[in-house]
Amino acid sequence: MRLLSLLLLIFVAYAANADTYVGGDRCATCHQKEYRVWKKGPHASAQKNVEASTSQSCFHCHSTGQGPAATQLPLPNVQCEACHGAGMYYAKEDVMRNRVLAIKLGMRELAPEDKMVAMCQACHRDDVGIGKKFNAVKSWKRIGH
Ligand code: HEC
Ligand code: HEC
Ligand code: HEC
Ligand code: HEC
Repeated sequence: MRLLSLLLLIFVAYAANADTYVGGDRCATCHQKEYRVWKKGPHASAQKNVEASTSQSCFHCHSTGQGPAATQLPLPNVQCEACHGAGMYYAKEDVMRNRVLAIKLGMRELAPEDKMVAMCQACHRDDVGIGKKFNAVKSWKRIGH
């Protein structure tokens, strides 16, 4: 029995890595406050700047969930799961109340602060965007929920 649940956990953790996104509307059913803040912020409309682009590489940072295959259609804009991880396995009430389990099932660990900073910088690289120096901690204070 223990072996079985261990195998199941390994399988699910593996599957969670395989980009299984549910979309921000689903998160919003339980996290309305965070959704409202996000909706007003820069990430909720990040795709309009690249809509006209023919280069698939833009979507990697201006949308959510684009996998290595260029044909994989991403979710529009920088949604919840771009930062929190693909939610198919953790976005359930009983899992969400168990932080350790939620992280095992794909929720990204964003504390302590250096983990958050590394996550932001995966997209906010100094060589992209408008060349302003990016400070993740200060930026998060402006847009955080
Ligand atoms: C069915 C309701 C439900 C859905 C859907 C849901 N959550 Fe949650 N979430 C919760 C509950 C309940 C908690 C725990 C709150 C607490 O313990 O105070 C939580 C906690 C969290 C936390 C804080 C975890 C921590 O302890 O640091 C994050 C981040 C989070 N959810 C993100 C998301 C994201 C992203 C989605 C969509 C992919 C999502 N949630 C979908 C109910 C939900
Ligand atoms: C590695 C991640 C990444 C990639 C790839 C990327 N962008 Fe961006 N882009 C960003 C970030 C982060 C910002 C916000 C930077 C800022 O405001 O300092 C941004 C901002 C922008 C802006 C707005 C600048 C402004 O003045 O507000 C435009 C337009 C843009 N990107 C177009 C593109 C196009 C077109 C492509 C593809 C050729 C692309 N981006 C690829 C991360 C990326
Ligand atoms: C740009 C990245 C980013 C996006 C997009 C994002 N979040 Fe977060 N979220 C964070 C960070 C960073 C934290 C703080 C983590 C911490 O302090 O542990 C956080 C915290 C949270 C928490 C915990 C709040 C608390 O009081 O403990 C919840 C719930 C949450 N986010 C839900 C969402 C939902 C729902 C969405 C989409 C509507 C979303 N987030 C979009 C980065 C993001
Ligand atoms: C999946 C890629 C991605 C991640 C992860 C990400 N961002 Fe962004 N962010 C963007 C893009 C793309 C834009 C530009 C949106 C646009 O087109 O105007 C942006 C814009 C912003 C802006 C407004 C422009 C500026 O520099 O003032 C802030 C602030 C910001 N992000 C903060 C953060 C913080 C803080 C984190 C981590 C908690 C984070 N972002 C994580 C892609 C990302």
